Amino acid sequence: MSSSKQSPKTLLRLGVNIDHVATIRNARGVSYPDPAAAARLAEEAGADGITAHLREDRRHIIEEDVEAIKRSVEVPLNLEIAATAEMEKIALKQKPNAVCLVPENRLELTTEGGLDVIKNKKFLKSYIDSLRAEIPKVSLFLAPDKLQIEAAVEVGATTIEMHTGEYCELDILFDTKKRDVEFDNLVRMAKFAKSLGLEVHAGHGLTISNVAAISTIKEVEELNIGHAIIADSIFLGLSEAVKAFKKRMAFGRESITEMQI
Ligand code: PXP
Repeated sequence: MSSSKQSPKTLLRLGVNIDHVATIRNARGVSYPDPAAAARLAEEAGADGITAHLREDRRHIIEEDVEAIKRSVEVPLNLEIAATAEMEKIALKQKPNAVCLVPENRLELTTEGGLDVIKNKKFLKSYIDSLRAEIPKVSLFLAPDKLQIEAAVEVGATTIEMHTGEYCELDILFDTKKRDVEFDNLVRMAKFAKSLGLEVHAGHGLTISNVAAISTIKEVEELNIGHAIIADSIFLGLSEAVKAFKKRMAFGRESITEMQI
């Protein structure tokens, strides 16, 4: 295999989001299941990173989990936070390998949309400057939108995570026409972001059924997946669920054609 063919295929990491292990623990107010133990198991099964979202309302992960995960795994920890003063302090104290800034609204079931970087340029620039003094990678969770991506560069982000929620929703609804338009847009925006020097990640709503398709976008280097992996682990066990996602991702990557490379 030529090296030009090899590189885009191998460059796809899986970040396993273990938030919902904590959701189950917190539903009972007990100490198990332990998110750090889940992180360790995910790493052993082939996860390339662990992702945790420390929400302002602490509905799942708490700061002690972040500390325990950091102690428990060797793969990078990606900490998702809202851009608040409290979270900035915690991130600078915990020093994860990467921070992903996400919009947060207390009433939402999960992160509902991308950040509006254009509207918050000045604030985000200084927030990101402060994080980057200690944390090498700062990512912004964005809708796949050209103007938002340009704004991400202006505010100093190293990385964007493209919101795949719309694509996944259309796929579930079998609205193939709109889904394919959304997919083409994800492809174009991944290329655009990479051409501006950004590292490109993707996530939200990904499942074992749609992850191979998203894995064919060669500019995407990392997928962050939570709900579906934890859901599948009820039936398969966490190790098997992680392995199954890695396998589907590799299948998607393998189907990248020579033309795309
Ligand atoms: N990426 C980001 C930025 C998120 O906020 C979330 C949800 O916490 C995910 C990925 C994972 O989404 P899902 O749980 O649907 O896989």
